[in-house]
Amino acid sequence: MPALCNVEGHLVPPEQAVVPIFDRGFLYGDSVYEVVRTYGGRPFELERHLLRMERSAQRIGLSLPPREKLLHELTRTLEAAQNAESYARIIVTRGEGQFGLGAHLAEGQNRLILIVRPLQTPPEEMYARGLTMAIVKTRRNPPQALDPALKTGNYLNNILALREAQEAGADDAILLDLAGRVTEGTTSNVFFVQRGVLVTPPLSLGMLEGVTRALFIEIARAQGLILREEPHGPEALAAADEVFMTSTLREAMPVTSLVFLESHGEQVRKVADGRPGPVAKRLRADFREYVERTHLRR
Ligand code: PDD
Repeated sequence: MPALCNVEGHLVPPEQAVVPIFDRGFLYGDSVYEVVRTYGGRPFELERHLLRMERSAQRIGLSLPPREKLLHELTRTLEAAQNAESYARIIVTRGEGQFGLGAHLAEGQNRLILIVRPLQTPPEEMYARGLTMAIVKTRRNPPQALDPALKTGNYLNNILALREAQEAGADDAILLDLAGRVTEGTTSNVFFVQRGVLVTPPLSLGMLEGVTRALFIEIARAQGLILREEPHGPEALAAADEVFMTSTLREAMPVTSLVFLESHGEQVRKVADGRPGPVAKRLRADFREYVERTHLRR
């Protein structure tokens, strides 16, 4: 089933969904976006996603369309798409103004675009097998540059990291910060388990504050697990009992193998015995339970 797009209020198929080439999102990646998915046909944790979008927009001085408009367009597009479950990408660009970098050139403009597709999540066999993640040479840009906490249309850093990982035969990449500490994946956050303690890098290193990350932290703590937000080098991942990635689309996906590209030469290391561990599995089940309780039964 194809995607359904909403370009400034017009519902159109992808081949008719166009933005002008002077749009700053196209020219400079001057835009913000969010990816939400539905459970039971309704967007999950939409409030958290919209708050993050508002924070991103505020930090780059981009004015978003009013919330009501955004919600109205999202609901309308989801309804028209009639998917069992949907992936929805909400994009707001700074629109177009006179040619030039100056953001003031597009003062008062913005452009709302939605892309709704039938939801595609990783197959269960991938959860049973686990991912191979490459620790890539490409570093996460520091918060003092383009802060990775902002979900903007500027994903080239992540694209380069993914390219590097895939060239090495890995599924995805984990990026280190400039000081060599683990930050996050290209579109997901990372957790590991060491002697029963759950660890995830602190946001201060520079990364996106994943909605799923926040939920897993809350769920893990509610389950009585000890959770620490702590900086670690990549060797901590190789020495861990379990590693897993979280995101809207992956929930909690085990990592069973690591390819070290950041040091000299290429080194492949299994995580523990190379099989998914029990903590990620249990937390994913707890997460599903949370979805059921807070979202589906309401
Ligand atoms: N990506 N880190 C980065 C860099 C991301 O792009 C994402 C999300 C995450 C996880 O965030 P969340 O749990 O809120 O999905 C972490 C989405 C899925 C995407 O761009 O497709």
